[in-house]
Amino acid sequence: MTVIDRSTGTYSITPMSPTIGAMIHGVDLSGPLNDNQINEIRQAMLDYKVVFFRNQDLTTEQHLAFARRFGGLEVHPFAINKPDYPEVLAITHDADHPGQENGWHSDVTWRLEPSLGSILRCVKAPDVGGDTLFADMYAAYDGLPQRIKDRVDGRTARHDFPNFRARLRQGGATEDEIAALVVEYPNPEHPVIRTHPETGRKGIYVNAAFTQEIVGMDPDESDELLTILYAQAQFPEYQVRFMWEENSIAFWDNRSCQHYAVSDYWPNRRQVERVTIIGDTPYYDAAQAPTEIAESPFRGKIKMWSDS
Ligand code: SIN
Repeated sequence: MTVIDRSTGTYSITPMSPTIGAMIHGVDLSGPLNDNQINEIRQAMLDYKVVFFRNQDLTTEQHLAFARRFGGLEVHPFAINKPDYPEVLAITHDADHPGQENGWHSDVTWRLEPSLGSILRCVKAPDVGGDTLFADMYAAYDGLPQRIKDRVDGRTARHDFPNFRARLRQGGATEDEIAALVVEYPNPEHPVIRTHPETGRKGIYVNAAFTQEIVGMDPDESDELLTILYAQAQFPEYQVRFMWEENSIAFWDNRSCQHYAVSDYWPNRRQVERVTIIGDTPYYDAAQAPTEIAESPFRGKIKMWSDS
């Protein structure tokens, strides 16, 4: 397998598919990391949309400290956070709590300013199963036929969190408490096709978990287009699949990829902890040119539609 040596020579990167995902070797995330190392990791995350690390035996403080090098951190208002660490989302599944992150999504698109990226650390992996899939939303957009792009470019979509409301109700939240959260987190409208603020590339930015409708469009047409756009994440050609081990880390860019946690390990235990970096307001700019991409030499031109 070819390994790219970054110019610093301090670590190396192995691409894991022609379009998305790379393993970074030779870096200890427990720190301290200098600015050059952080810039290299950030660039790799931009190029590959998700980067992975093995054998990172981090404390929660070290996990948080690493994430803070990339921006401020979110506190999830609905999910279970780790005791004493409000910025750490504790995602634990076992016989009594089956996995539920098995839907394609980008994190927290129900926020006005959805996340830049997420850093997930594996505490306990099942012996087999519990992989996470990631899909490249730039490649998915590039692969659309022009006639679909013409119908969705420049449009906006409304996002919401009905799944979290349902879970809160199941957990005993009152309707008044839920109504207060709906006021605090009003449904945002985000571009259907998002221009990435750092790379200038365009990607599909609707997801099956949180997007409700394309704004100002006939509901049937909105459903038709959203069905087509959601389906793109399911093409294996746009995906990378990561098999977890304890102390593995995945760092993904929520602005350019979606993910899906495979829920095939019940009744076994899977325990991961996520720290989520605050993002900014999504926009679409038809004229913004992509920045130069330093990316995989294996990059293929994926052609999913016969008429594009
Ligand atoms: C998530 O959806 O953020 C969690 C992904 C995972 O558990 O692999």
